[in-house]
Amino acid sequence: MRTDLRNKVVLVTGASSGIGRATAVAYGEEGAKVAITYHSNEDGARETARLVTEAGGTALVVRYDLADERCIRDAVGRVAEEWGGIDVLVANAVVWSEAIPRPGQPVPRFEDVPAKQWQEVLRTSVDAVFHTLQAVLPWMRGRPWGRIVLLGAGLADTGKAGAGAYGAGKSALFGLMRSLAWELGPDGILVNMVVPGQTSTETVRAHVPPGFLEEKGKTLPSGRMSAPEDVARAITFLGSAANGNTNGETLRVTGGA
Ligand SMILES: NC(=O)c1ccc[n+]([C@@H]2O[C@H](COP(=O)([O-])OP(=O)(O)OC[C@H]3O[C@@H](n4cnc5c(N)ncnc54)[C@H](OP(=O)(O)O)[C@@H]3O)[C@@H](O)[C@H]2O)c1
Repeated sequence: MRTDLRNKVVLVTGASSGIGRATAVAYGEEGAKVAITYHSNEDGARETARLVTEAGGTALVVRYDLADERCIRDAVGRVAEEWGGIDVLVANAVVWSEAIPRPGQPVPRFEDVPAKQWQEVLRTSVDAVFHTLQAVLPWMRGRPWGRIVLLGAGLADTGKAGAGAYGAGKSALFGLMRSLAWELGPDGILVNMVVPGQTSTETVRAHVPPGFLEEKGKTLPSGRMSAPEDVARAITFLGSAANGNTNGETLRVTGGA
């Protein structure tokens, strides 16, 4: 399958760990120029850059803050100016704090959730993607092809007590993705969403008891939880020329849950 990713410019937000890191490395294996953003874990981003280079790609590390429009626009501008444009955007970064109650943590009554907390989750999950897209698109239009992959979440379908804002944000991205597919498709830019189920990233592992993910995996149709690399493969397919005309779709990587 030809991905046509060699020397293509790929921006993966939130690539200092987890699904973002696995995605950056997968693009590196295809010979892409991969911009890796981080928020506070610069060492993690540098480690991702090392892995991308080792895999055969070229890496650039950039700081990016979902809560800061100026920082978003500066980060995108830096990547585009360094490499002359952007071919692929993977909007993967996430702020977890407050987004989903941890196991054992009490779930506040909905009417007690501070409006500020609700707004913060939507600001970093929806507004940040708006600002990122606005900064990226002038650099993506007019190139031979473009691809955009947004990250959804299985939780937006299933729901979870205490995760209303996170679910609302991911559902908003779904609606945005569907409209952008119409708007950008005629310019050769295909827009899709990858929907992971619970995935065994370092962050998730740090917040569940030992063995939890393995046991939960056994209850899934595939018999195991997804690894970050499973999600990365779906992203790199949709976010490459191997994807010929899949547009406005969601690809679920949930093990069949
Ligand atoms: N893991 C799952 O089970 C799961 C399930 C469904 C959907 N997802 C989705 O998959 C995506 C990746 O999740 P993950 O589990 O791989 O996450 P992760 O490993 O925790 O990584 C999160 C990334 O987001 C960055 N980030 C955090 N706060 C930020 C901020 N304020 N500004 C900019 N970047 C920030 C982190 O950077 P620093 O560490 O450098 O601060 C890190 O690179 C997310 O969109 C998530 O909603 C994940």
